[in-house]
Parts: sequence; C-alpha cells; structure tokens
Amino acid sequence: MYLGLDLGTSGLKGMLIDDAQNVVASKNASIEGSRPHSGWSEQNPADWISACESVMDALSADHPSEMAALKGIGLSGHMHGATILGADDKPLRPCIMWNDTRSHAEAAELDANPIFRELSGNIVFPGFTAPKLVWVKNNEPEIFAKVAKVLLPKDYLRLWLSGEHISEMSDSAGTSWLDVAKRDWSDDLLAATGLTRDHMPSLVEGSEVGGTLRDELATRWNLPKGIVIAGGAGDNAASAIGMGTVKAGQAFVSLGTSGVVFAANDSYLPKPESAVHAFCHALPNKWHQMGVILAATDGLNWYSRITGVKPADLTAELGDLQAPGATLFLPYLGGERTPHNDAAIRGAFLNLSHTDDRAALTRAVLEGVAFALVDNLNALKSAGTSIDRMLAVGGGSMSTYWLQVIATAMNLPIDVPKDGDFGAAFGAARLGLLAATGQDPESVCTGPEIDQTIEPNAALVPAFADAYQRFKAAYPALKGATS
Ligand code: XUL
Repeated sequence: MYLGLDLGTSGLKGMLIDDAQNVVASKNASIEGSRPHSGWSEQNPADWISACESVMDALSADHPSEMAALKGIGLSGHMHGATILGADDKPLRPCIMWNDTRSHAEAAELDANPIFRELSGNIVFPGFTAPKLVWVKNNEPEIFAKVAKVLLPKDYLRLWLSGEHISEMSDSAGTSWLDVAKRDWSDDLLAATGLTRDHMPSLVEGSEVGGTLRDELATRWNLPKGIVIAGGAGDNAASAIGMGTVKAGQAFVSLGTSGVVFAANDSYLPKPESAVHAFCHALPNKWHQMGVILAATDGLNWYSRITGVKPADLTAELGDLQAPGATLFLPYLGGERTPHNDAAIRGAFLNLSHTDDRAALTRAVLEGVAFALVDNLNALKSAGTSIDRMLAVGGGSMSTYWLQVIATAMNLPIDVPKDGDFGAAFGAARLGLLAATGQDPESVCTGPEIDQTIEPNAALVPAFADAYQRFKAAYPALKGATS
C-alpha cells in the first residue's frame, strides 16, 4: 500500500493505493485560508497538521489492515508558499500563500536583477517565495531576523511527519532560489535576498526517498516502522505524475483553485519573457512548462458566494453549449500571472445588460476562465511547446459545460479520465511507490483510461474565437481604466 497526501488550498486529501495502483481509499479534510487585505492570502500551518491528523485518523480507523501494509508515502502541496520557521522549527508567522501578491514591488526589484531570470529560468512573480521573504525583511524585520528555515507548505508537513528539513526539485523550482538547470540551490540567488543555503532544506528528486515516518506517528496509527516518504512534488507536477504527463508532447489543463496549462518537456526550456513557468519535473532529468492563472474554480466560487448558489448548481442550469454573449468576465480577482504578470489588475464583468440573468453571468465566468487559459496555451506556444490535445484534471473538470467551453475556445480535444481522481494525491501516492520500490518511473506513470473526449464544437469555434479577441482587448482597456 502507498499513500498520497495532497495539501491543497481548500483541503488536504489522503489517497491509499495498492501495488497495482488501484485506489483503495480516499479521505479529505477542509482547510480555511484568510485574505486580511486585497491581494493577501494566508494560511495557518497548524491547520495543515490538523487536517493531516484527521485524514490519517480516518484512514486508520476505516482501513486498519490496508494501513498496516503501508510501505511508502508521497507528498504534494500548493506551491510557492513561504512557511518561515524559527530555530525551534515553529512558524514565525502565517504562511504567505501562492496566490498572495503583496510582494509585487519586491518581486519587480528582484526580477530587474538579471541573475534571477538567468538562473531560475522564470520571472520572479510576486506569488513566488523569494520576494515574500524580502517583503518580510522590509515590513517585519523582527521576524526576518529570526528566520532559521524557509519551507514550502508540503515540506512543512514532511517536517512534522519525519522530523527532517527536505524538499525536492519541482516545488523548489518555484521559489526563485533554485538554479533550475542544475537542480540545486543557487548561492547567488539566496544571497540576493539576504539568505544562505543554511536557510534551505536539503534536496532530493521527487521519486527518491526524502525522509521516513517518525516512530511516534507510526505507533499512533498502527503503521509499520520505517515507512519511506518520497520527495514528492508541487501539486501541478504531482498531478502530472498522476495523469502520466511525463514525456514531451503530453499536456493537461487543471481546473483547481488556480488554472494551469501544463506540458511535460524532455529538456529544460525556459522563456521567462512569455511569463511561462519552466520548472523541474518530479522525475530526474525531466522538466516541464506551465502557464498559471490565479483564479479558475476560485472565480466560479466567488460568483457562487455572490449569488448564494452552489457552483455545481450554477453549472447544472446551463443546458447545451451556447455561443458567448456580449458580456465578458475577466477573472483577475487577485491579480494575474501568465501572461500579464500583473499583481494590481482586478477582475471585471464588462458589457452587462438588462437581458443578463444568473445563467448568462455563469457562462461569462466559465468563458472568462477559458479565455485566460487560451492566453496560457498561446504563451506555451511562444515558448516552443505546441499542444494538440490535453487531459482534464481538477474539481472544475466535473463540469462538462466548462470543458466544452475550454475545448471550443482552444479548438483542441480534451480527454476526460474515467475516474476523475487522477490528480495530485494519486500522483503523490505514485511517487511514494517509486521511492519505496525503485520501480521504473515510466512504467508506473502511465496515462489514465479515458472515459470521453470533449471535442471542440466546430459550429461555435468562430464565435468563441471572436469573443476571445474581445477578451484580449479588454485587459489593456481595463488596465487603462483602473491604474
Ligand atoms: C503554480 C501555482 C498554483 C498552486 C496551486 O505555480 O501557483 O497552481 O500550486 O495549488
């Protein structure tokens, strides 16, 4: 048995798989975040531990014999978060999350130093980890003075599970401190933010062993002693492991809190000026590119809170795919990464009219997210990666209407896996299996069985292409109107 633990933005999922990779059990615990100011997003690391405890308690209560056969654990988590620890390994402040853009001035300053794009291969986005530490240095100097270690969220969970400071390449590539080509911390990038290698965890590959479970926890949950914990991965690379997106030419679109267009690469292909992320993959000698939008289901969830109607009920009332109406939604509720790298921009409904009802605005929200993902597809194209079909993953992919919108807006077929649960928790469990058994990654990381392929709606492709042009024109106009 192998266990994947995925620390997501809205909850932690634990998934148990057997040696043949059948899903045996899955448990969730929700996690709350807070947005104390516009553009800020924080979580309390103690809540991650509580969520992990409740998932582990539930798994060991309901599946004691399977848990007694556990051999490996893999970790996945939301990326880029700054979990800042003192010498006693306790968090010095709440985690500053991936979708927190407060450090935009610090990010722009670091990004202006050419060594960052040269060595990290990426724009220094405000959501990345390094500028957040500079923000803490500038705004909370008493906390910065006490920083002993900076960990990514899933690696804080590992510290609690194993007692060790360890990270891996895919998540570390999103800090702006990793030399992504060399797969090692860069002393120069660390020095540029007032830190050294001592502040960083040690590094392993995602499929290698990165710690063992503490005996005390093994006893608590009746688990064998010495269970290995894999390096694991940032949640997008973990989803890619779960979906078998490991070779050049393979790609997926993820509709989670964030939206991601992800492509596996056989070599390192940075192109920072496109705002594409070029990161290490979770397997040795593999890299990937992705475009990231900050609000995918987060946009629909926002609209659900406004209307007081659950997201699933909003999408259920839509019927057959329709051509976009005049109303546009720009999903930049907390700023945007790819392609704009704009922390200040905010979302908008444009061209509202008397005829717009709730369903019309739901369609506009789904279309706006889809058009932002088309921007990402085009960014990847400009970075040398062309995609001719993709898999769908993430909670938003439960909506067939949304997938039809994306397929038609991109004019690409989208493959939907048979059982929708091939995401990050499954990928993390696979990494646990790889670390525990040393099996060949390519034979383990196969693609899922496909339930259906959502083809673009040919009759509506021109209408979506037309609406996408209006969407593209809206960003500069909105920027001009608000800044
Ligand atoms: C990736 C990113 C998000 C988070 C969401 O760069 O910031 O996809 O990983 O969990």
